[in-house]
Amino acid sequence: MVGAVIQSGRVLYMRHCSHCHGTAGDGNGPTAQYLYPRPRDYRHGVFKFTSTNDMSKVSREDLLRVLRYGIPGTYMPSFLLMKDEELTAIVEYVRFLSMRGEFERKLVNELASDYSEEAVESRLKDEQRADIVGELAKFLAEDVPGVVDGIGAELEESWVAADSDEAKIVPSVPRVPDSEESRRRGRELYLSKTLNCADCHGIDGAGNGPQTVAFEKNPITNVPYDEPGLHDVWDNLNQPRNLHTGIFRGGRRPIDLFCRIHAGIKGSRMPSFKNTPHEDIWHIVNYVLSIPFEPEPGATGVASAPAAPATEAAAPAAGE
Ligand code: HEC
Ligand code: HEC
Repeated sequence: MVGAVIQSGRVLYMRHCSHCHGTAGDGNGPTAQYLYPRPRDYRHGVFKFTSTNDMSKVSREDLLRVLRYGIPGTYMPSFLLMKDEELTAIVEYVRFLSMRGEFERKLVNELASDYSEEAVESRLKDEQRADIVGELAKFLAEDVPGVVDGIGAELEESWVAADSDEAKIVPSVPRVPDSEESRRRGRELYLSKTLNCADCHGIDGAGNGPQTVAFEKNPITNVPYDEPGLHDVWDNLNQPRNLHTGIFRGGRRPIDLFCRIHAGIKGSRMPSFKNTPHEDIWHIVNYVLSIPFEPEPGATGVASAPAAPATEAAAPAAGE
């Protein structure tokens, strides 16, 4: 049964998704090189726009939403015209590709820590090659099955947990109604030293804060990137959003923005603000939804409503 769903998901995926996301889900299909942002590489097990807590994986519902509505302002299209059972089958296949990819990456990392070419090279300073080879043979024969089971169990658990109620972000207070006062409070929080949204998004939300021109180091290799600005876990340049555009990739409903701020945008440098009181998050949401109606810094003349984004939404729903 499950096998049949994944199989039909695979057929649909190959037809509709693989030219961008690649047959293995590595985000590297033939069309991908022309696109920015790049199609998602599923093999990290990381998805950006989720309604789950910062440490949780993506839920089936989140994946379904991305398929239905696409990701506005990017090349990720909407598949709203597909039947529900087709979409659910594709979701299962994406989960399968993601789990398989992450499993392989974890296994390789496990081996690489002691037995990669570099690791062996540095161990040879005070160990004999024959000893290392012997140890590796023993590791492969005796420990690998346990390691494989361990990685598999851990992965399965995290994917199952993502669909549970505990993983879901639920605001502890209802949405604070939009008002001048609430937006003002939101802007104060936005500029505050504790939250410091402006450090990335800029004082006026134009996506031009100091971090966008600093040279960042790759957190794993510690080597600075060639170009200034922020990068995501896939090593792509990934600058903070210009909040004047009125396009919200993870959805423009107030609850979508609440989740973006609460959990951050996974895999990107947009951090989680889960320790911020929920009432304050709502004030920030009200402020963020009002930014597209503010004049952009450098722009002259009177503030005007933004042009309707290409997908999903018309002008942002500040009063929704
Ligand atoms: C024309 C290219 C293109 C096609 C076709 C396409 N995608 Fe995407 N997809 C993208 C891009 C680009 C992104 C990344 C957008 C971003 O990072 O904001 C993306 C992101 C995603 C994400 C990540 C969402 C998240 O929260 O991180 C999923 C899941 C996804 N696509 C699934 C699919 C599936 C399934 C199909 C086929 C039914 C598909 N895509 C077809 C370009 C495409
Ligand atoms: C360290 C840098 C950083 C900080 C601090 C930061 N952001 Fe972001 N933010 C980003 C990046 C990078 C993105 C784009 C991520 C992506 O879509 O791949 C982003 C995207 C967003 C988006 C777009 C969401 C969407 O659906 O398109 C909003 C809204 C946002 N940030 C609001 C905020 C607010 C409010 C704060 C402060 C509470 C904040 N950010 C703090 C880096 C930052």
